[in-house]
Amino acid sequence: MQETAATNPALEAPPATDVIIRAEGIEKYYAQPSQNRIQVIAPTDLSIVPGEILALLGPSGSGKSTMLRMLTGLSTPSAGQVFWHGTPIHEAEINVSIVFQSFALFPWLTVLENVEAPLQARGVAPAERRERSMRMIDMVGLDGFEAAYPKELSGGMRQRVGFARALVVEPEVLFMDEPFSALDVLTADNLRSELLELWTKKTMPTKAVFLVTHNIEEAVLLADRIIVLGRNPGRIRTDFPVHLPHPRDRKAEAFTQLVDYIYKVLTRPDVAPAAAPGQPGAVRDQRQMGYQMLPHARPGGIAGLLELLLDRGGRDDMYRLADDLAFEIDDLLPIVDAAQLLGFLKVEEGDAVITPSGEEFANSEILRQKELFRNAALENVLLLRQIRRALDAKSDHTVREDFFLDLLDEQFSEEEGQRQMDTAVTWGRYGEIFDFDAARRRFVLPDALDEEIAAGEDAS
Ligand SMILES: Nc1ncnc2c1ncn2[C@@H]1O[C@H](COP(=O)(O)OP(=O)(O)OP(=O)(O)O)[C@@H](O)[C@H]1O
Ligand SMILES: [Mg+2]
Repeated sequence: MQETAATNPALEAPPATDVIIRAEGIEKYYAQPSQNRIQVIAPTDLSIVPGEILALLGPSGSGKSTMLRMLTGLSTPSAGQVFWHGTPIHEAEINVSIVFQSFALFPWLTVLENVEAPLQARGVAPAERRERSMRMIDMVGLDGFEAAYPKELSGGMRQRVGFARALVVEPEVLFMDEPFSALDVLTADNLRSELLELWTKKTMPTKAVFLVTHNIEEAVLLADRIIVLGRNPGRIRTDFPVHLPHPRDRKAEAFTQLVDYIYKVLTRPDVAPAAAPGQPGAVRDQRQMGYQMLPHARPGGIAGLLELLLDRGGRDDMYRLADDLAFEIDDLLPIVDAAQLLGFLKVEEGDAVITPSGEEFANSEILRQKELFRNAALENVLLLRQIRRALDAKSDHTVREDFFLDLLDEQFSEEEGQRQMDTAVTWGRYGEIFDFDAARRRFVLPDALDEEIAAGEDAS
């Protein structure tokens, strides 16, 4: 995890003039009723350039849709900025369209009226509106269905309307959020090939396509470049070009190699990805740049979850667990992530699975639990390891909190940095890795605080 990121020529910034959308250090957090803030996207840089289909892949909840919303100006980043041809996106006149998984058609409008709607919103005159919409309906193969209503159409046809409506404004960038995942396999395949044909033959004037998907094959089939996001917080784990010629053969070795590579990256969230097949040098993994994000979970919660899981034979579906605990899945996830980070649990196909060390932990007495927690935390959590090392190294065995806050601030917002610190303190105290003197805002070795208190008592 500490390897240095080598330069990958593919990642070098394209000439600034060419970039259509550029995100610089964008982050997103959401406030929660409990005052806790969830960091959904860690600081991320990303560019969309002409001539490319860019696929954004990632597990559920990794922030793909959030990223799309920020890149299209629908949502404002909590930090960092998005530029449209070099101008801050909220000051620019942008030209993008979005196709959604849910089609998002107006049920009370006909096919033609749905396709015309964005042109009407842009003030295009009726005759031109009609002409352009008819052409687009023709292009997506819905000729003859102009007067039909969405409810009369199959899912595949509805998504064709979605595409026609998106393309009719001739967007410079076409954004798609899982556009094929609500469709049956064959329909999805057909639509993908047709879209690709429109793109490669330049029938559509779109300069770049940004596709959000969780389907690995779909990404490898369509994309010129693939970015894989990891979760908690969402961050770029690998980013590489795909040089396979179109039409791509799913059975070709180069194709399956790429699919396997991405599968490995996705299923091993804690391992820094190797270079993609055919790529020079290592890939960028933002996690290599510093601290992992500590999930804001309490040790008691982690212990509780592991005990429950053990009670259920060591494995259970996460949604069922959340349901039985009357938790929202998003409240359970930080606990699952924490247990995973500590090596007590694994997530496999939506199931939480206890590991042998998790089992030992769940079966142990409280003192032994603290010891197992301490070992796992020191092994897996850089911040805790650093604090403990600093305490051991200093002759007075105490270190100011500020020192570590400054390090965290380079990576997190000030508030998130403080929250990271608070969680680290909770974990460090529970595992007796260190103690924290809240009055003086200093870390101390656990025994040192006892000694100080004892010394104070002696003196009185
Ligand atoms: N308005 C919100 N308030 C709080 N949390 C949110 C909000 N919107 C999204 N999130 C959280 O942000 C994280 C990322 O969500 P997002 O929808 O971007 O993920 P995704 O990768 O698109 O997932 P999926 O594959 O399920 O569509 C999730 O943990 C989600 O719960
Ligand atoms: Mg989504």
